Amino acid sequence: MRNPNTSPSSLSFVSAKPQQQQQKPSQSQRAPSASEPLSEFGREMQAGLARTPRSISPKFFYDAAGSQLFDRICELPEYYPTRTELRILGECAGEIAGQIGPNAEIVEFGAGSLTKVRLLLDALETPKRYLPIDISGEHLEAAAERLKADYPKLVVQPIAADYTMPLVLPAPMVGAGRRVGFFPGSTIGNFEPEEALAFLQLAARMLRGGGLLIGVDLVKDPGRLHAAYNDAQGVTGEFNLNLLRRANAELDADFDLDGFAHAAFYNAPRQRIEMHLVSRRAQSVLLNGERFGFEEGETIHTEYSHKFTVEGLRALAVRAGFRPGAVWTDPERLFSVHWLAA
Ligand code: AVI
Repeated sequence: MRNPNTSPSSLSFVSAKPQQQQQKPSQSQRAPSASEPLSEFGREMQAGLARTPRSISPKFFYDAAGSQLFDRICELPEYYPTRTELRILGECAGEIAGQIGPNAEIVEFGAGSLTKVRLLLDALETPKRYLPIDISGEHLEAAAERLKADYPKLVVQPIAADYTMPLVLPAPMVGAGRRVGFFPGSTIGNFEPEEALAFLQLAARMLRGGGLLIGVDLVKDPGRLHAAYNDAQGVTGEFNLNLLRRANAELDADFDLDGFAHAAFYNAPRQRIEMHLVSRRAQSVLLNGERFGFEEGETIHTEYSHKFTVEGLRALAVRAGFRPGAVWTDPERLFSVHWLAA
């Protein structure tokens, strides 16, 4: 059904049917000995605590425990993005498949458990090849094997790589249709604005002649956003604090988990949720032999989750070199899925 309330002529409405699951990177390690070089996490944590204001990339949330906590977040009643996106993908799959065309090659960025792509594969006409890209090679291989078993005619070629870096994809297969990127989950919202633009520019180059199907969370009532990142069960708080637990386990750190609190709020002018860990008191923390002092109330910034308007995302896509096409959303306009021609 067409959506009469938005400017693009190809915008669609859909109705309800809940589900879950989202994808994310993962890594798990242990505390290094004094002679070992620091891991990427160790280096970034040390640099992040040394800078003002303090910050660390959200990519480090996803060790095994963090990934499990994130899966729990996706099922929380307050956390609407995952189930809403799945609903859109499920109900608009036919239209989306029509847009993509037959014999497509699907490239998924940050593919994780390869769950959402199944909705797409089920709807596509004779999809030719699937190239899931994820930094976590082992997890990706296992998920790819399961997918191959379920889609025996599909060529599945997992690529263990950082999808935010330039990457040469295999040449298109003989007889292949469009090459289409798939980037669900509103993961683009976790990038800084200039990183989001850089990623889209990279994707536009990689997918020239095809397009990108991207899931994006929409600007909405701040109360609804606040609840989604401050759930009643405290799972998002555990997810945030797990970063410190991970630092204690993998790095030579002694964070007192009771000494820090989860804080998430909506910054309306910037259209983003900001997540922090707040020091409950004056304290100091040892990390790899270096001591870092915290005032009461001092924070470590851990995540941005940017929200977009449909028009804002389309304007960003144009800047990156895409031609925005159809947009599918839910009746409440919580979430959107965009077709961007490359
Ligand atoms: C993965 N990403 C899109 C989630 C989000 O909503 O920004 C991560 C998350 N952080 C707290 N809750 C969920």
